[in-house]
Amino acid sequence: MPGLDDATRGRILYGGDYNPEQWPEETWLDDVRLMKDARVNSVTLGVFSWAKLEPRPGERDFGWLDRLMDLMHDNGIGVVLATPTASPPPWMGHLHPDTLPVDQDGRTEWWGGRQHFSHSSAAYRHYAAAITGDLAARYGGHPALTMWHINNEYCTYDWSDEAAARFRGWLQDRYGTLDALNEAWGTAFWSQGYGDWAEIHTPRHAHYLKNPGQVLDFKRFTSDMLLECYVAERDLVRRATPHIPVTTNFMPLWIGQDAWRWAEEEDVVSVDLYPDPRDPFGAQNGALVQDMTRSQARGPWMLMEQAAGPVNWRGVNHPKPRGLNRLWSLQAVARGADAVCYFQWRQSRQGAEKFHSGMVSHAGEEGRTYQEVKQLGAELARIGEEVTDSHTPNDIAVLHDWHAWWAGAQDGRLSTQVDHPDLVKAWHRALWEAHLATDFAHPEHDLSAYKLVVVPQLYALTDAAIENLLAYVRGGGTLVSGFLTGVADEDDRVRAGGMDGRLRELFGIRTLHEWWPLDAGEYVECDAFRGTLWSEEIEKSEAGEVEAAYKGGELDGLPAVLRKGRAWYVSTLPEPDAMRDLLARIAVGAGARPVLDALPAGVEAVRRGDLLFVLNHGRESVTVEVPGAHRDLLTGATVQDELTLGRYGVAVLKP
Ligand code: GLA
Repeated sequence: MPGLDDATRGRILYGGDYNPEQWPEETWLDDVRLMKDARVNSVTLGVFSWAKLEPRPGERDFGWLDRLMDLMHDNGIGVVLATPTASPPPWMGHLHPDTLPVDQDGRTEWWGGRQHFSHSSAAYRHYAAAITGDLAARYGGHPALTMWHINNEYCTYDWSDEAAARFRGWLQDRYGTLDALNEAWGTAFWSQGYGDWAEIHTPRHAHYLKNPGQVLDFKRFTSDMLLECYVAERDLVRRATPHIPVTTNFMPLWIGQDAWRWAEEEDVVSVDLYPDPRDPFGAQNGALVQDMTRSQARGPWMLMEQAAGPVNWRGVNHPKPRGLNRLWSLQAVARGADAVCYFQWRQSRQGAEKFHSGMVSHAGEEGRTYQEVKQLGAELARIGEEVTDSHTPNDIAVLHDWHAWWAGAQDGRLSTQVDHPDLVKAWHRALWEAHLATDFAHPEHDLSAYKLVVVPQLYALTDAAIENLLAYVRGGGTLVSGFLTGVADEDDRVRAGGMDGRLRELFGIRTLHEWWPLDAGEYVECDAFRGTLWSEEIEKSEAGEVEAAYKGGELDGLPAVLRKGRAWYVSTLPEPDAMRDLLARIAVGAGARPVLDALPAGVEAVRRGDLLFVLNHGRESVTVEVPGAHRDLLTGATVQDELTLGRYGVAVLKP
């Protein structure tokens, strides 16, 4: 199978979504001039071009795209060619209302925005296949083509009748019999037993809480249907161009797609990443997504979209202060990205995203945004050849699984304050702040290479996953788990005892008597720290050792942090500093070391092959100890033992 290497050919890809159909053709020449000045070597064409390519059903207008493909090739710029299937033309919804998705209240999602397609619609799939096939036939042999980009940020849910019919088929495949479905969904509760497949619908608006099994399967089904759409288009382009890699862009930590499963179907894993420039944890959140994407890719990955300046979809949208775009771009390269791309090349003057930044902002060539983009392009070109090894294996894995997330995020749970992505962020941030480098892994992956495995929360676990965790600890690994882990099986059936017995035994828990969720702003005192969000009434087994106990209140003296040998259980969410210190202590015990010793707070060090990236996420200058002699690839300077980095400064050190 082709991979990202086939597109990069030893360089870092630099560029972004290019939507030239929004501009007169004279502008294209100016675009090319500015692209070359900024060392742009890759553009993504056609993401939202369906109405232009197919102005009326079955008609084709490829002339403008022919000229662009040639223009890009003549100027040495590769093209990531998108299938335009994320935004069907108005004629489609008009002629085929069944191509439009329906929300859970039965409201149609009309054209006039984007992503208004029903993944289950046979008509939509027909038109999507036709335009994809024609694009592949026309441009498969074009020398500018470097990669296929299927659709864009697959994310539509659909509760329509056509989706309901496919849902029934999906359920028949999964369960075989209605008895098995009734058993899995626990339909004995509230008189929900199904006697005929035809009675089953998508989980539409209901009077009160919906059946959790049905909701969970609908999430699985949605991810699978979108994947079917992706695979259908991928197979069409693959047949025409087996040597050209295929991708589709993920949204970070997005609930709708089982990205582990999806990544298996991609030649290149790519992600769109938009941390808020004003978020004090923007760097940490970016690092999390980058670690996750690299782990899904198991090699180099593509930063498909980021913003050079502000986005326009937050309540208040700030630009990036000077230097931040460079810093966060190099952070991605440090974590294995072989492509640094943006939405979009030139900021639009019309349409819903006219206040969303581009690499060339409304201020144009003289604007700070383009000037910084240009500087970064030169730097990426300088370091591109040196950035080769994509993946330095890390000692620590953070476990994440979409099915566990879906099952645990249901209505009717004990606390709506417990938010799965927030927990993953809190745990990853603690490791980041302890300067510990991490991968992500699925709970059924082989974990034996890791010294420490961290489970922020895996509410539902299969037996295979539980056995995997037990085997990992038996084999000498250190495991630390947060609360609400191993509570349910894959049908969201609560395991006997409120937590799987094998896991209770592993962590030294005799009885889990009750859960005591904490409200926003509420906390519980533990020996040396405060716990937030959650607490538990746990009775330890004889072998369990209390590492920290609750103090005062109902839980006085009961274990907050419990350990049995190399298995740790944290039944609350310690405040951030305590969480960092706890994980740092466990990591040291497990033999996992920080990337560099004595790193100041807010400074990040990341190894990529033999390169050491040092990134100052603070606004003050810092001095960092980097033992030995190095050359900074960005400046050419020699660095001996010590490095000073200014505000948002970065060094890429080669021994
Ligand atoms: C997503 C989309 C882009 C654009 C950006 C704006 O990433 O893929 O088309 O809408 O968001 O941030």
